[in-house]
Amino acid sequence: MLAWTVDHSSPAHLALREVPDPEPGPHDAVVEVRAFAPNHGDLEMLPALPDGTVPGWDAAGVVVAEAADGTGPRCGQVVTSLGTHGAWAQRRLVTAESVGTGPADADPAALSVVPVAATSALRGLRRLGPVLGRRVLVVGGTSTVGLFAVQLAARAGAEVVATTRDATSRERLARLGAHEVIASPADLTHDVSGALDLLGGPHLVQAFARLAPGGTLVALGHAAGQEEHFGYGDLFGDDGRHDRTLTTFFLGAETGLGPDMTWLATEIHEGRLDPVTAAVRPWEELPDAFAPGSRRAPGKVVLTVG
Ligand SMILES: NC(=O)c1ccc[n+]([C@@H]2O[C@H](COP(=O)([O-])OP(=O)(O)OC[C@H]3O[C@@H](n4cnc5c(N)ncnc54)[C@H](OP(=O)(O)O)[C@@H]3O)[C@@H](O)[C@H]2O)c1
Repeated sequence: MLAWTVDHSSPAHLALREVPDPEPGPHDAVVEVRAFAPNHGDLEMLPALPDGTVPGWDAAGVVVAEAADGTGPRCGQVVTSLGTHGAWAQRRLVTAESVGTGPADADPAALSVVPVAATSALRGLRRLGPVLGRRVLVVGGTSTVGLFAVQLAARAGAEVVATTRDATSRERLARLGAHEVIASPADLTHDVSGALDLLGGPHLVQAFARLAPGGTLVALGHAAGQEEHFGYGDLFGDDGRHDRTLTTFFLGAETGLGPDMTWLATEIHEGRLDPVTAAVRPWEELPDAFAPGSRRAPGKVVLTVG
C-alpha cells in the first residue's frame, strides 16, 4: 500500500512511498482509509519519530476485514478511528476500544476530525461536571479542540466565553455558540465556574485567577509554548478563591472512547455539530498543507485518500 512515512532526509520529514500492509493481530480490524486529519501534536512529533514510521492518529474510512476475535466494527461499516500511528496510509488497523461508527452514507472526510479534536473537547469538558446554566471559559477558542469545545459546552447549556487573539474569528466563534468572545482571560468581566485551556502559559495562570470558588480548570493544551508561573498568592484559598481545582488531561489515558466517538460522528453527520473543517485536500498535498508559514483558517485540514 501507499503511505506517508517519516523520512528525515526531506524538509517536511515525510515521503509518500510503498510500504507493506499492516499485519492485523487478533483484536484488529482493517480499515481502508478514505480521509485523515492531522493534529497539532502529530505534526510536532514528526522530527522525533524513527525513519519509516507511518504517522497519524486520526483516520476515517471503511472496514475491509473484521477482527479475528469478533470484536470491533463489521465489514463495510464507515468508521472513524484513533491510533498511536498508522493513519496516513491507504490501510490502518483499528481496535474496538477506539473506533466510532458512522451511518452508512456518512462522509469519511467529515468524520475524520472526530478522534483527537472532538473527543478531547468532549472528555475535557466532562471534567468540569454539569455546566447547565454555568459560565464556562474556553481558552484558545480557535484551536480545533477549542472550536469543538465551544459548540459542545453551548450544547450542554453553558454560558460560553471563548478567547481568541484573532479578531476575524470572533463572529465564527459566536456562530458556533460562544456567548462572549474576548482576547484573553485577563479581559473577563466576571468569574467562571469552569475553564478548558488549550494554550497554557500565562493564559492558564490568568484563567485560574478568574475561577469562581469550587471551579475547575482543565489544562488540556499548551499551544502557546510558554511556561506557567504562579505568583505568590495565586494559589490562595481565602474567601472568594477557595476550593478551586487545576487538573491535567491526556486523551491517551482515556478509555472506552468508542461510544463517544460514535455519538460525535452522528452529530456531525446529522448537522448538529460543525466539523470545523478549514480545508479538504488530496493526501498527496500533505506537506504543502502544513508547510511552515502557510496560513489557513482556524480548524481542521482534512486530506482525502484515493
Ligand atoms: N492533552 C491531550 O490529550 C490533548 C489532546 C488534543 C490536543 N491537545 C493539545 O491542545 C492544544 C490545541 O491543539 P489543537 O490541535 O486544537 O491546536 P491547533 O488547532 O493547532 O490550534 C492552536 C491554537 O493555539 C493558538 N495559539 C498558539 N500560540 C498562541 C499564543 N502564544 N497566544 C494565543 N494563542 C496561541 C493558535 O492561534 P492562531 O490561530 O492565532 O495561531 C491556534 O488557535 C495543543 O497544545 C495540543 O497539543 C492535547
